[in-house]
Amino acid sequence: MNEKDRTIVPAGTLQDKVIIITGASQGVGLSAGYGFAKAGATVVICARRGAIVEAVAAEIEETGGRALGVECDVTNEESVKKLISITVEKFGRIDGLFNNAGVDTEKVALCDVAFEDWKYVHDVKIHGSFLTIKYAIPVMIANGGGAIVNNGSTVAHRAFTPAPYASSSQAAIIGLTKVAAATYAKDNIRVNMLTTGGILGIEREETAYEGMLEPILKTIPQGRMGRPWEDAQVAAWLLSDYASYVNGAEVAVDGAHLAGAGNAMIGR
Ligand SMILES: NC(=O)c1ccc[n+]([C@@H]2O[C@H](COP(=O)([O-])OP(=O)(O)OC[C@H]3O[C@@H](n4cnc5c(N)ncnc54)[C@H](OP(=O)(O)O)[C@@H]3O)[C@@H](O)[C@H]2O)c1
Repeated sequence: MNEKDRTIVPAGTLQDKVIIITGASQGVGLSAGYGFAKAGATVVICARRGAIVEAVAAEIEETGGRALGVECDVTNEESVKKLISITVEKFGRIDGLFNNAGVDTEKVALCDVAFEDWKYVHDVKIHGSFLTIKYAIPVMIANGGGAIVNNGSTVAHRAFTPAPYASSSQAAIIGLTKVAAATYAKDNIRVNMLTTGGILGIEREETAYEGMLEPILKTIPQGRMGRPWEDAQVAAWLLSDYASYVNGAEVAVDGAHLAGAGNAMIGR
């Protein structure tokens, strides 16, 4: 087991499911690639940095898993259509989709955000998730159903003033999740979301926060940052048959950050 491969997902949890993971070149998506494959899934891992996801897929295959790395930009409709068609061509079906791609945003006050940047963040998060859903769901319907998990954020529920486009685009994920769940439940498709917060990337060590970590930890009642595999393993559960009656739900993976919102000033 390496540092990227720490998910606790029982073997067989995702047996024989074909699952697409977006934003799989680092962080949560990378952990999901290793973890879902270990749990029996065939994973199609995608990101703009195609060389990375291809190398990860090769590594998964070398250890007995089934994986395909695909270069894909979720903001580009043709690129998403290609991702879906390559998956169907190679594996014949799509059982799961983990919409995880996102961008780490500059910290800028609302009126100082450049319009291009505002649009780009929304393009990746909400339009990218819409596009993958738009083209994956017809395939899922054709193969009798499926499950989707959108990776959202705690900032959807509060005014994250340092990065207003994060709050706005993540809030839209709640609407997309609910409308997709309610529309396609009749087709045996479940759509849920993670309300993620405070996940420290595999690549980023705590020292990279340069003095920011202490104030962040004061807002997390569990008193520590989460790690990517702790997010990925909840996505695995939502994509699995163990969550067969969970639909349209938001699952917080945030060390009780939202539950304890407002407590920062008085300590944990
Ligand atoms: N980490 C946290 O504390 C936190 C908090 C709240 C919410 N979240 C949510 O959880 C998700 C994962 O978090 P993370 O920390 O693992 O993110 P991350 O480390 O920033 O990774 C983002 C991933 O998205 C990919 N990506 C970016 N733009 C893309 C595009 N246009 N098309 C396809 N892929 C694209 C990146 O790969 P390429 O650059 O190779 O394309 C990368 O693999 C985020 O999207 C966010 O919504 C995380």
